[in-house]
Amino acid sequence: MVNVEIAVFGAGYVGLVTAVCLASQGHRLCVVEKDRAKLDKLRSGHAAFYEPELEGMLADAAGADRIHFTNNSGDAVHSADLLFVCVGTPPLPDGSADLSQVEEVMKTILKHETERKKHEEDKGKLVVIKSTVPVGTAYRLKRMADLYGNGAGEIEVASNPEFLREGSAVRDFMQPDRIVIGTSGERGEAMLRSVYRNFDCPVLVTDTNTAEMIKYASNSFLATKISFINMISDLCDKVQADISIVAAGMGYDKRIGEQFLKAGIGFGGSCFPKDLSALTAVGRKHHVKVELLEQVIGVNRDRPLRLMEKLKEEMWVLKGKTIVLLGLTFKPNTDDVRDCPAASVAERLLKEQANVVAYDPAGMANFKSLYPELSARIRFADDAYEACRRSDGIVLLTEWPVFKELDWGRISANMEAPFLLDARHFLEEAKLKQAGFIRGSRT
Ligand code: UGA
Repeated sequence: MVNVEIAVFGAGYVGLVTAVCLASQGHRLCVVEKDRAKLDKLRSGHAAFYEPELEGMLADAAGADRIHFTNNSGDAVHSADLLFVCVGTPPLPDGSADLSQVEEVMKTILKHETERKKHEEDKGKLVVIKSTVPVGTAYRLKRMADLYGNGAGEIEVASNPEFLREGSAVRDFMQPDRIVIGTSGERGEAMLRSVYRNFDCPVLVTDTNTAEMIKYASNSFLATKISFINMISDLCDKVQADISIVAAGMGYDKRIGEQFLKAGIGFGGSCFPKDLSALTAVGRKHHVKVELLEQVIGVNRDRPLRLMEKLKEEMWVLKGKTIVLLGLTFKPNTDDVRDCPAASVAERLLKEQANVVAYDPAGMANFKSLYPELSARIRFADDAYEACRRSDGIVLLTEWPVFKELDWGRISANMEAPFLLDARHFLEEAKLKQAGFIRGSRT
């Protein structure tokens, strides 16, 4: 095993982006990944998911010998002083976060540290939690180290939440709005400040509980903005106001800000739905009223329902009609279809006995493997033109930039009835009308 400064546990989204970006800053890292197939893929230079810029940077890091992939956690603990924990924290049936993978990594670290300490004397390790974890997790892990560390020496546990978005993860990591360091000791702060020494942004140093809460509060607030604008959008529909202009008018107010005010089919993905459920579960546990967040979840859950109402209003009978879903991923520039609104919309259309055709530039393979039963009832097309040919209506569900470049005149000319519902407020209505669409309707 080569000598590295940093070990990263888990080569998922957060882990791999963290490792590759830190390698680009000159650090030497190893990434510990248990999944053999993922490991082989990474060693051959490929990520298990699509993220712009990532594979190029991975190739550079590997070429410069700054990144290594291993399933040998012992070597990683032995070699690095800084251990980033980036494993998954998926939701349990009650909505709370499943921390078994985080605990497993800590047990592994303690086991190897105890072994190592029999032979060596040094300052011990800094374990940094980057996974999104409930408040109190770093504190519990520290207690675990103190109680069961058995000769493992001084292990410090810090929280360093990540705020990157899929699709722009590299840029978000390299140019963060802030870096949050939650720590109980000066050594942890100094080590993390040194890791991030080249980043030009505010660094907030606090205790671990506060750092963990910053992550949940940030995601919940962003999700609240989205559900809020979606509620306003429904009102706009009823009173004939234009939601895009309303959002723009609000966004000019610096206290509100223009971001995360795009109305549409609602939020999906692996973060917002999971983190909101986890935070509301914490609220219920501590008897704190979190109805506001429950409403945010409720408004979001109803978005596909609203879309169906609108479709029925516009297309009347859906049974037997062919409806095309353009976009399956929960947002553009990713192949991630976890918790994607498209699955819920497809389910509802099939229930109405419509024929569903789908096309997505990157997410079709993942969609088929994540929703096999649903996919068996959908026809997947090779491109957007083929998907829309002889269809009765199109629903645009993901704002992929390539969809803007389509020849919409050619598409409308080949449809049974040129109807499109833009569930992302993405395409220009005037252009659609010019292209022959009877109605460039929105939701
Ligand atoms: C989100 C946060 O934005 C990141 O800061 C955070 O680090 C990450 O979760 C995480 O916890 O790991 P992500 O889920 O990748 O990032 O994607 P976003 O860009 O936040 O979009 C989430 C969902 O909200 C998407 O379905 C998107 O289409 C939707 N959205 C976003 C809207 O409907 N309207 C908007 O105005 C913005």
